[in-house]
Amino acid sequence: MYDVYEVRKDFPVLGETINGKPNTFLDTAASAQKPRQVIERMVEVSYHDYANVHRGSYYLSEKMTSDYENARKTIAGFINAKSEKEIVFTRNATESINLVAATWGKKFLKPGDEVVISEAEHHANLVPWQVLKDELGFVLKIFKVGDDGAYLEEEYLKALSDKTKLVSVTGMSNILGTVFPAKKMAAQAHAAGALFMLDACQMIVHQKVDVQDIDCDFMAFSGHKTYGPSGIGVLYGKYDILDSMPPYQYGGDMVDTVSFEHTTFDEPPARFEAGTPAMVQAVGLARALEYMQDLGMENIEAHEMELVRYANEKLKEVKGLKIVGNAEDKGGVFSFNIEGIHPQDLAFVLDKEGVSIRTGHHCAEPLVHRMGFESVARASFGLYSTREDIDNFVKALQKAETFF
Ligand code: ALA
Repeated sequence: MYDVYEVRKDFPVLGETINGKPNTFLDTAASAQKPRQVIERMVEVSYHDYANVHRGSYYLSEKMTSDYENARKTIAGFINAKSEKEIVFTRNATESINLVAATWGKKFLKPGDEVVISEAEHHANLVPWQVLKDELGFVLKIFKVGDDGAYLEEEYLKALSDKTKLVSVTGMSNILGTVFPAKKMAAQAHAAGALFMLDACQMIVHQKVDVQDIDCDFMAFSGHKTYGPSGIGVLYGKYDILDSMPPYQYGGDMVDTVSFEHTTFDEPPARFEAGTPAMVQAVGLARALEYMQDLGMENIEAHEMELVRYANEKLKEVKGLKIVGNAEDKGGVFSFNIEGIHPQDLAFVLDKEGVSIRTGHHCAEPLVHRMGFESVARASFGLYSTREDIDNFVKALQKAETFF
């Protein structure tokens, strides 16, 4: 286990005050704070290595190219991909999923085919399939989660059939915190003859994610949630599948030969990285993953689970508070409602106490409605969160209750 108070020193903003109160940052599930090691690495690269990648036969371009390609190797190592050629840099997980829909989906999905997702998906793993289904005429099947937000295996199995071509699910819900059994689900998808894609945005900061062990065909995650920069994300894909897919966007750096009449395209991952990429951000993301690895993913998970236990106890002290999502296997995400107080009003009062939470539908509007709400408040923890954060949070909630 690591010393969380030492770790917090790497995140200067956590030691600052917000509205004159200690910074109680409980919105890590939206975007995590970045340790100084990530920021410093990005500054170092910007100061000393910056030039365009893959294009120049001069010192700086080669240095930046090697930084960028080494970042790809670090990411491959972090998720245990077979090769760095299976790592495509994107802007974020949303773009990664859209890439799969627009390339693999358009090429391989036909009327009558089925794509399976869950009720717990973020808009990023719902809307691209919805739009594509309207265009191509396949069936989008959405399997239910329990009223407590739990994953229901029987509902998943009911949704699978020999028509299923793709299962695309979250590894951990950004609202309910529910952790989905990705490895088992992947095996069941494969048994039905389907590919399996994992939206690992929340899961990858919660626990070790090993793409070969899970045996997922695609996986998506975002840099800004993994203590790295925004503007960079990852699509992992098994090489043969990536190689069967047409390009996503067209332009420089993704071509093999170009004439005025005809163009041939590069191999993956270059085929999917048209234009100058987010080079500095890629390096920052790799540094962020190394930072998590240094702390140990098992330790990060154990720390988070201890906070989940503590929060479950402490939140009982708040009158009328209902936690939305009580699955047994649940990460550090607490969505909740307090009877008689609108989440937005709550967030406003909490902000005055230095407590940052998110409110609304959290980019998963149908799920919030399915759980019986128009809007929920959400507190989420990260590797730097403490019991004191939870104490401050509970005190602020109790104070808010006196106003309404
Ligand atoms: N997907 C992010 C969240 O859950 C933005 O807040």
